[in-house]
Amino acid sequence: EAAEKSGYEHYMLKEIHEQPTALRQTLSGRIDELNGEVDLDIDLPKEYLNSLEEVTFVACGTSYHAGLYAAQLVESLADVRASAEIASEYEFDGGRDPWRTLVVPVTQSGETADTLSALRRAKRAGARSLAVTNTLGSTVTREADETVFIRAGPEIGVAATKTFVSQVATLALLSVAFARARGELSTTDAIEFLGHVRQLPGAVQKVLDEEAAFKEAATEYADGEAFFFIGRKLGYPVALEGALKLKEIAYVHAEGFAAGELKHGPLALVTPKSPVLAVLTQGSSPEATLNNVKEVESRGAPVLGCTSLRDAEKFLDVTFDMPELGALSPLIANVCFQLFAYHVAKLKGRSIDKPRNLAKSVTVE
Ligand code: G6P
Repeated sequence: EAAEKSGYEHYMLKEIHEQPTALRQTLSGRIDELNGEVDLDIDLPKEYLNSLEEVTFVACGTSYHAGLYAAQLVESLADVRASAEIASEYEFDGGRDPWRTLVVPVTQSGETADTLSALRRAKRAGARSLAVTNTLGSTVTREADETVFIRAGPEIGVAATKTFVSQVATLALLSVAFARARGELSTTDAIEFLGHVRQLPGAVQKVLDEEAAFKEAATEYADGEAFFFIGRKLGYPVALEGALKLKEIAYVHAEGFAAGELKHGPLALVTPKSPVLAVLTQGSSPEATLNNVKEVESRGAPVLGCTSLRDAEKFLDVTFDMPELGALSPLIANVCFQLFAYHVAKLKGRSIDKPRNLAKSVTVE
């Protein structure tokens, strides 16, 4: 087992550090940057994509957060209504023409029972489906009409890390494919977006190279009574995912909020003992979130921010410097949250790779 961890103390840390490699595998051979095109080898005719009325991502846990991220990308790039649904809550409402709804189960394992049931409900109602998974031969690949593999390589740690970044990267490519087929994205804009996608592995590596900073921040704030993660737009799913990681592996109370919702309730929970972690990158309306940072800072909460905004620094107790990649920037901030959660959990002596009460793949509803 020690050999399989390649010198890392935990699979989770190994997998966090594998993210640049996982991303390269995810992207390999799929991007034609010269022409702004994407090839995911799926059989969805242009006419079908053109007539799509709705895209619905169904998923659980971390994969649901990837779906939330993707829904925003699809809406903004491909101009089609898109949403992410918690698989166990999902009921297919039929729509006007079910065939024009594409249901996208997102599941690392391809075996999550709630996600498979959601897919089956949608299929029964007549929807078309496209699975996004990491696992060859998994149930979801047999049941969905089409499959795209995220190619992240095996993930052993129960808490999903590299599969999240590979899911979002795959879904970003899918968004471009939809947008191009629908004539909604110019070649120039596609080239720019795909250029950012290409730079993802390097940008993630930059964050990983700063691991000592996250360890230091974890050491300083590990005793927090609760941790709040805030973000807007594409920063919102990342806030949810940051909080989930901390809950899963550190067993501390952590919540992710849409930053604008703070004032509608959660602000009452903020104290000097509740560190707030903020996404303040491109793609997440950082200026607006900065106002929320000021609100929590004035109530004495320590604030840790992922940002490249110079004016943010004076309101932050800890600044994690972010490389910016447009709509993919919040995804890079997520790597900061992974490392923070890992080091908090390690300081607390938790069972990081196999957290209590949790399973890697949940095959019961
Ligand atoms: C379990 C795991 C989570 C994972 C979720 C969905 O709860 O502990 O890490 O996000 O299942 O898994 P899936 O394989 O469908 O992505």
